[in-house]
Amino acid sequence: MATKTGEGFSSSFGAIMAAAGSAVGLGNIWRFPYICGKYGGGAFLLVYICFVFFIGMVLMMSEFVIGRRSGEDPVKAYPKLQPKRKGWRYVGIMGLITCFLILAIYLVISGWTLNYFWESLTGTLASISNDGFGKHFSEFASSAGRPVLFVILFLVFTAFVIIGGVEKGIERVSKLLMPILVVLLLILCVRSLTLDGASEGLAYLFHPDFSKLTGEGILAALGQALFSLSVGMGVMIVYGSYLPVDDNIMKSSIWITICDFAIAVLSGIAIFPAVFACGQDPTGGPGLVYQVLPVVFNSLGTVGRIFSVVFFLLLSLAALTSAISLLEALTQWLSSEKIGRTISAIVMSAAVVVLAVIASFSFGDGIFSGFKIANMQIFDLLDKLTGTILPPICALLTIIFFGWFMNKDDIYDELSNHKTLKIGYFKVFYYFLARFVAPLALIIVLVAGLFGK
Ligand code: PFF
Repeated sequence: MATKTGEGFSSSFGAIMAAAGSAVGLGNIWRFPYICGKYGGGAFLLVYICFVFFIGMVLMMSEFVIGRRSGEDPVKAYPKLQPKRKGWRYVGIMGLITCFLILAIYLVISGWTLNYFWESLTGTLASISNDGFGKHFSEFASSAGRPVLFVILFLVFTAFVIIGGVEKGIERVSKLLMPILVVLLLILCVRSLTLDGASEGLAYLFHPDFSKLTGEGILAALGQALFSLSVGMGVMIVYGSYLPVDDNIMKSSIWITICDFAIAVLSGIAIFPAVFACGQDPTGGPGLVYQVLPVVFNSLGTVGRIFSVVFFLLLSLAALTSAISLLEALTQWLSSEKIGRTISAIVMSAAVVVLAVIASFSFGDGIFSGFKIANMQIFDLLDKLTGTILPPICALLTIIFFGWFMNKDDIYDELSNHKTLKIGYFKVFYYFLARFVAPLALIIVLVAGLFGK
């Protein structure tokens, strides 16, 4: 194992499951379908595929290389690989701050999801009339007690796994949950596709409408690609430091990327046909999952109730494996400062829950909703920062470090597992992408997104 603490994944399969667990989350099932619908369906999908495979995947490989080569947390990894330029540690620090902010907002949405799972199970959702779900969601999400309770509950599950350790906690839980997640999703896809009128939903998802693909949509595609693959904030550096020495980084990254992409598309297939078949509005935005899908489930009778439980369970499990990776990044850093793993996990959880509660209170008509920074409620500000601004900036700096400041021989040595693997032309192609294509694309999209309009 590469890390100083001796923690690490026991096998490549376990490592792939854990990293795929980090990648597959609310981003795939809650966010991807509604953004894809908003920015032109198939047109968005085309741009998204390019960003995922030519930028996101390249970043994932780069972060794995940085992590495994250094065997350090993101703050120490950069200066260890480039001792003459210690300033690079700030990229690691910025990544961890991004993780902290993402985790706060992630916990809020995961809390909603857990509540909806509970309400499906107990029959509360089934007792609401179809036009009452909008009100139900906004009243619930803006209230003070219940969302916070579910945030804390979700965080306790997450911290519990982290305290279990890398192999016995994260790896074990991911190996168990990921296959369950795929099976649940496939069941939902089959049901959705066999509903009358399902084809309209598929057309909505796959038919390219380039008129809706704006500059903002392209930036959203990039932000979504990075967010969905969990790259650009150092989490994959952390998991890279846990990779077994004989893991084939290129192969694993390709598998994780394919898995993440496939699950996003499958989520779209599970959601849109059902939404159309039940005559609901596909442009429901962030509320799609909480306001529109319950109507869909209710109109399917008893079967719908079962599907509602399955869906919200699926979403909660997906969110859990992603939240685990975010809390692990923060815990690894703190515990590398000679503080025990358990204490580190508890301290980080306590710190992040404060921000999560503030974010929750600032949502909708919550008690902090009047408090604004840069004319935005705290929840919206966090969403914007973590969705489209910080990850692309961190990603750009990471890829510049990798392509221009890291020793090329070190990179090849790490990718080829000390020359025991043949990586041939692929390494040339990959290095070219990492050095020129990815940074350039990131700069163009970032500048256009931040200063354009
Ligand atoms: N990739 C996760 C998702 O799609 O929901 C979210 C995420 C996890 C983002 C971990 C960033 C991260 F570091």
